[in-house]
Amino acid sequence: MEVRTHAVTLVHGGTVLRPLTECDWPLLLRWNSDPEVLYFSEGDDVESYSLEDVQGIYRGVSQRAYCFVIEHEGLPIGDCWLQEMNLPRLIDRFPGRDLRRIDITIGEKPFWGRGLGSTSIALLTEYAFEEERADIVFGCDIADYNGRSFGAFQKVGFEVHERVHQKEGLKASYCYDVLLTRERYLLLLQQGCYPLLGRSTDEP
Ligand SMILES: CC(C)(COP(=O)(O)OP(=O)(O)OC[C@H]1O[C@@H](n2cnc3c(N)ncnc32)[C@H](O)[C@@H]1OP(=O)(O)O)[C@@H](O)C(=O)NCCC(=O)NCCS
Repeated sequence: MEVRTHAVTLVHGGTVLRPLTECDWPLLLRWNSDPEVLYFSEGDDVESYSLEDVQGIYRGVSQRAYCFVIEHEGLPIGDCWLQEMNLPRLIDRFPGRDLRRIDITIGEKPFWGRGLGSTSIALLTEYAFEEERADIVFGCDIADYNGRSFGAFQKVGFEVHERVHQKEGLKASYCYDVLLTRERYLLLLQQGCYPLLGRSTDEP
């Protein structure tokens, strides 16, 4: 099984989300073998992933997701995806609704805290509501010690859905699920609070 790619590119200023492909393994391996990045992006104590692990993760997720590489002024700095919801606790709570989740990693650490994560989340969110007609978009399992991730989602309109207690022995005592509903997105858009971001697709 290979990465399921697509033809969607999302753009805002110098930030470009372009399709992730089978050519991106060196980048993905670099970011997924940095213990400091993994400390924030993984719930378990993962120090490093092998190429085989990384290929397994991205090839698997891409079957039900739009996966992107984040580029800033031409430099690849991280990856993100917009995926169909896969967590039973949320699917069961919102039956019949089209639920998506956003996951994101800026793997180049000097680019943390410069607004690029929240811009990328906004681009994916806008794509989810405008093009995919999603009902609710989530950020999931944001650890209590990951204020930057929490702040990045909050900055573009996401609100806390639930604080989920974690099992003993995990790095976090609790994690947050945050969400943005279509209704709130439309309200934010109407109020001019939500940025209307550029996008392009090469699809016919
Ligand atoms: C999480 C991540 C994508 C966020 O992207 P980013 O570009 O660093 O974040 P942004 O600069 O867009 O936004 C962060 C916001 O959180 C705020 N913030 C930072 N620390 C915070 C804290 N402890 N508590 C609350 N807010 C905090 C910042 O002030 C900023 O808001 P502001 O611009 O209004 O001041 C990025 O830091 C990253 O990839 N980290 C490593 C992997 C990871 O954590 N992935 C997510 C797993 S859930």
